[in-house]
Amino acid sequence: MVRPPPSALVTGGAAGIGAAIVRALVAAGHAVTFCDRDRAAGDRLSAETGATFVGMDVLDGAARARLFAEFGPFLVLVNNVGADQHAFFTDTSEDEWRRLIAINLETTFAFTHGVLGAMQAAGYGRIVNVSSEAGRQGSKGGAIYEAAMAGVIGFTRSIARENARYSVTCNAVLPGPVRTPMVEAALAVHGDRLESNMASLTLLNRLGRPEEIADVVAFLASAKASFITGEAIGVSGGMGCGAG
Ligand SMILES: NC(=O)c1ccc[n+]([C@@H]2O[C@H](COP(=O)([O-])OP(=O)(O)OC[C@H]3O[C@@H](n4cnc5c(N)ncnc54)[C@H](O)[C@@H]3O)[C@@H](O)[C@H]2O)c1
Repeated sequence: MVRPPPSALVTGGAAGIGAAIVRALVAAGHAVTFCDRDRAAGDRLSAETGATFVGMDVLDGAARARLFAEFGPFLVLVNNVGADQHAFFTDTSEDEWRRLIAINLETTFAFTHGVLGAMQAAGYGRIVNVSSEAGRQGSKGGAIYEAAMAGVIGFTRSIARENARYSVTCNAVLPGPVRTPMVEAALAVHGDRLESNMASLTLLNRLGRPEEIADVVAFLASAKASFITGEAIGVSGGMGCGAG
């Protein structure tokens, strides 16, 4: 008998790359739960896909505990939530450091901690961490973001090593520039010049689409991706091989 794909949790799933991941996992047959603080967008995506939406701030530990108790266990976790940075390091503050490390890195620790016990007990699990190609390359104006995203890659490798004996895999996906609300906000301020600068970072000379990231995440989240773990996989139009 073929077992249905297991329950999946996606953080920051109401918009952008996260919403594309929710759609891709639902299409692959997973029972999907996603959390986000944008309740209106979350409700719309839930109505569209049938996925379960939990409106919450991912930094709220009590809300995370309620989510795991009420909707878990999850044998697939996609740590997607994040926020970027557009300021030279000398113009940043310790508060900004704490905010960006919390949303990009600590949430990855916290949600992974919440799911691993069940995955180990089941002898199966798929964790996919959405990092960033910038976490490998660095950029001007993103030092804290990139420190967090490089941290996600190191965390991914250690979780992969510790959990291989349970058949739990853990991989990181590293997007290049992708047209999402995060990037649209920057384009609205800086316009066409920023878009062509971002595109020129890639060999394909364009921004990515959220679906192009989601398809790779959905494959890594599937039973078929059984011999891939501890990897940091660029989905960046060639940015990772030193384009530009
Ligand atoms: N867009 C890009 O070019 C790009 C490139 C590389 C990596 N990434 C990474 O991909 C991931 C998704 O990026 P995106 O561009 O889709 O982002 P986005 O800003 O478009 O969407 C992020 C989602 O997370 C939610 N969110 C943010 N803070 C939250 C909080 N505290 N609690 C609950 N929900 C919260 C937002 O409401 C939103 O729905 C992030 O980790 C980002 O760093 C994006």
